[in-house]
Amino acid sequence: MSLEVSKLHVSVGETPILEDVSLTVGDAERVGLVGTSGSGKSMLAMSVMGLTPSTVRVEGSALLDGQQLVGASPQTFADIRGRSVGFVFQDPSASLSPVIPVGRQIERSLKRHYSLNSKNRRARVATMLEKVGLSADLAASYPHELSGGQQQRVAIAAALITSPKLIIADESTTALDAMTQVQITRLLVSLVDDAGASLLFITHDFSVLARVAQRSYVLGEGRVQEEGPTQDLLEAPQTEAGKRLVLAARKLTFSSSQSDSERRQ
Ligand SMILES: Nc1ncnc2c1ncn2[C@@H]1O[C@H](COP(=O)(O)OP(=O)(O)O)[C@@H](O)[C@H]1O
Ligand SMILES: [Mg+2]
Repeated sequence: MSLEVSKLHVSVGETPILEDVSLTVGDAERVGLVGTSGSGKSMLAMSVMGLTPSTVRVEGSALLDGQQLVGASPQTFADIRGRSVGFVFQDPSASLSPVIPVGRQIERSLKRHYSLNSKNRRARVATMLEKVGLSADLAASYPHELSGGQQQRVAIAAALITSPKLIIADESTTALDAMTQVQITRLLVSLVDDAGASLLFITHDFSVLARVAQRSYVLGEGRVQEEGPTQDLLEAPQTEAGKRLVLAARKLTFSSSQSDSERRQ
């Protein structure tokens, strides 16, 4: 499934938040969107998926397999979200309800979008739990009984249970420690590839992006500052925004990550 954003303008009152943003995610492609905090990354994802509050004005074009999303009806978004497009957010403990067993939370969008009986739904949840590397028995657990990494696996299971063809992951590994971050990123990439889905991976951390996206966009102050193959951006960023992000990523990874040493060998 492809996403083609062009000339997107997003503003709140007189304040522009995104200006003239164009970005594409091709069919079965993994694309990165990297930028510092406050650069407008989440706003981009929310604008495209009709999740912005009514005070936010969205103009321009965003085509999902040719279907215009800017100005689309709430019904259109309700049909698309959780079915064609799955979301994985930063903080799993915030996106999961503390009072509902995780199996029922994973089941939710299946229930909304497909007419399966409960036995079939439960079987799909069990399969999905195993796909994300968890035991099917965990379906009865509550989020607080799981580690942060396990919670994010549950959030990924919930996003992927309906086999969406575009996944938007917004800082989905940021809240995790470095080791878990690598595991969850690998898991997400392999699930997306197995499903033949597309991925828009949003992060402030260039070093994570190197493992995920062949191609990336650098967002700064609400504009696309540069774009290209992720490796090229990392090795030779051309803009101030790009250079700052690469420098920050190097500082973060020199101590712990293997990816730098792998690259130098
Ligand atoms: N609901 C909102 N109303 C007004 N301004 C907002 C709203 N949400 C975010 N912003 C502003 O939009 C800008 C981009 O925010 P955001 O997209 O969350 O950045 P990022 O995800 O890159 O950290 C910030 O200046 C933020 O203050
Ligand atoms: Mg954000």
